[in-house]
Amino acid sequence: MRLHSHPASPFGRKVMVAAHELGIAERIRLDYRRVTPVEPNAAVVADNPLGKLPTLVLEDGRALFDSRVICEYLDQLCGGGRLFPAEPEARWRALRLQALGDGIMDAAVLARYETVLRPEELRWQAWIEHQKLKITRALDWLEPRVAELPEDGVDIGAISVGCALGYLDFRFGADGWRAGRPGLARWYERFAARPSMAATRPHDLQEAA
Ligand code: BEZ
Repeated sequence: MRLHSHPASPFGRKVMVAAHELGIAERIRLDYRRVTPVEPNAAVVADNPLGKLPTLVLEDGRALFDSRVICEYLDQLCGGGRLFPAEPEARWRALRLQALGDGIMDAAVLARYETVLRPEELRWQAWIEHQKLKITRALDWLEPRVAELPEDGVDIGAISVGCALGYLDFRFGADGWRAGRPGLARWYERFAARPSMAATRPHDLQEAA
């Protein structure tokens, strides 16, 4: 399998953390691509009409997107029920946390694009502030519910929230998301120490094709 991704993409990281947790990371070849909303990448568009990262290309040439679909596919490939619990209560808890983590990543990536991609004279400060407010509300909602995250194990909710917090550290470290959220900070410290997270630390890559 091939994965169109980028080492700074939190959604690409989410897929690779899932693959590491399932023990199949070595079956995925990473093709790093440079993609922005105003610079579609031809190689990605050839496999995904939305032109978005991550996109997984299977051995038979079929492509899967987005990260939710890819992660569920990988889980099924490994027998199912490991990252996406089958038991209804655990399943909806994990899926809701996945939606929260994905939403934080969406807002953070949009704020990042507005900060570094848009020409300075066109930057819209209110847009950035409202994306950041969305993140603040999501983290404040999660702090008293941190017990919903698995303490030692892993599921798709934990992976998504973990990658979202990792992206905030990577791109918005100065905003200090840990302040006033000791439960979440403690949970993330343990989660970030997992080998799957250590193996997928985000970084910039100028030469992505
Ligand atoms: C970033 O550089 O922050 C980034 C790169 C690819 C996808 C999303 C974000």
